[in-house]
Amino acid sequence: MIGRLNHIAIAVPDLEAAAKVYSQTLGAKVNPPQDEPDHGVTVVFVELPNTKVELLHPLGENSPIQGFLDKNPAGGIHHICYEVEDIIAARDKLKADGARVLGSGEPKIGAHGNPVLFLHPKDFNGALVELEQA
Ligand code: CO
Repeated sequence: MIGRLNHIAIAVPDLEAAAKVYSQTLGAKVNPPQDEPDHGVTVVFVELPNTKVELLHPLGENSPIQGFLDKNPAGGIHHICYEVEDIIAARDKLKADGARVLGSGEPKIGAHGNPVLFLHPKDFNGALVELEQA
């Protein structure tokens, strides 16, 4: 069911410093920061030849990544995102198999303008999984 790895997201305490590590130290193509108020994050996209890395930083109060950064003050891998062709069909199959979909269970529009859903990490080996229809 899942297709390509769309991105790996890393929560970072200092977005500017993290972007510099990717652009200068690692020599990657790094895009300007993008605010995603619906998701409570500011995102920097790092473009790699075969996938993307998203550097996430909390935006506003009650950001969903604030608790993660409180537990991991130096930052850390926050989630991985797999592409699916049909997010509703994927969600319904996963729910039927007992997986927990986070939030309302309805897809939100993600940072790339496509519908996304998040799946409970306890159902996926401790990794928070994002599905993106792409
Ligand atoms: Co993501």
